[in-house]
Amino acid sequence: MQTLIKNISSLVTVDAEGGKFKTGSDMRDIGEIRDGAILFGEKIEWVGTTAEAKEKMANGSINPGNIIEAAGKTVLPGFVDSHTHIVFGGNRSREFARRLRGATYQEIAAEGGGILTSVKGTRNASIDELAETGYKLAVSAAMHGTTAMEVKSGYGLTLQSELNQLRAIKILQKELPMHFSSTFLGAHDIPTEFKDNRGKYIDLICNEMIPAVAKEGIAEYCDAFIDKGYYTLEEGRKILQAGLDNGMKLKVHCDELASFGSSELAAGMGAVSADHLLFISDKGTAALREAGTVATLLPGTAYFIRMPYAPARKIIDSGVITALSTDCNPGSSFTENMQLILSLAVINMNMTAEEAIVAATLNGAAAIEQSHRMGSLEPGKDANLAIADCRSYTDIFYHFGINHIEETWINGERFV
Ligand code: NIG
Ligand code: FE
Repeated sequence: MQTLIKNISSLVTVDAEGGKFKTGSDMRDIGEIRDGAILFGEKIEWVGTTAEAKEKMANGSINPGNIIEAAGKTVLPGFVDSHTHIVFGGNRSREFARRLRGATYQEIAAEGGGILTSVKGTRNASIDELAETGYKLAVSAAMHGTTAMEVKSGYGLTLQSELNQLRAIKILQKELPMHFSSTFLGAHDIPTEFKDNRGKYIDLICNEMIPAVAKEGIAEYCDAFIDKGYYTLEEGRKILQAGLDNGMKLKVHCDELASFGSSELAAGMGAVSADHLLFISDKGTAALREAGTVATLLPGTAYFIRMPYAPARKIIDSGVITALSTDCNPGSSFTENMQLILSLAVINMNMTAEEAIVAATLNGAAAIEQSHRMGSLEPGKDANLAIADCRSYTDIFYHFGINHIEETWINGERFV
């Protein structure tokens, strides 16, 4: 059945005229149509003004079975959250409270807490329990306007437990209408049992885990946390190469804790995205631009672990494809709310509202190679959209800290 939404006060199309991303000053053009209308089935069929829609109905060229009035509302493409870790076990709220009393993220990690706390919880969880945690977070994300997500493993750090996480993501793909991309992140931390023999764990990742994941076909991407205190550049290169050799593409955690050179490595290896980038160097920025690697910025992490924000202005103004994402995970950014990420991006990274919307929609879709079919409201794309209870997209930024989204539509169906 065709649905027409009309009288939309602010229809944000992020029209890219078929382009797969926007960069530089083009990110300031979000293709807003005042008093807009959109017609869709499973795919978007037509986008224009309400006056044009009325004309089309009058002359019989369209005959929607379902008409929705959206006066006073804003409609925008569903957010594409291209970097999350929503499938995990355990709870770290008490560690978080310790951080509030002065302990640092790195101190807690050095004591065997942090990621390793989530590893314990994840190893003790069944696939169904992991899927249930991911399911709740994904549905909540959708209630905040998200219609597609990437999800990583990386809290198991054994062959079996990593497979369990990826199989849990598979359950989300089956049970929810949202799009889920999946990423293998066996190189998230070194598990305690390999602390004195990291080479052996890296061999396990390259020779057993990656081939097993590839054989089951349950991860599109291979990721590694290449940073101070985690994986070295040399170790990271070896792991990412094994991913490539087994047919996966690359998404990489880069320069989050220190200026480490991991962005340059990711770009040099043709990664689809380099993520975090709090400490990216000018060389790293240039390398991402040259390689066409998406820079995925995760301001929730800088906020949550009290770190300096990524240099978004420099990255965008250099012409790098720039995306925004939650990094939703139990340790360094526990939020699934993309509107909050937009707020942090404009206030703390000096992005404009328009840039933030492009980064959270079209460019997020580019970060998971789905921008040919989502991330903007253009004919032919999936009808994935969010309806916000505000007159203009600018209200989403202006009136902050609340959920503006009233309805989320996925593949032309009202989901929440
Ligand atoms: O993306 N940077 C590495 N990993 C996560 C944090 C993981 C955790 O603390 O559980 C991140 O920020
Ligand atoms: Fe992450």
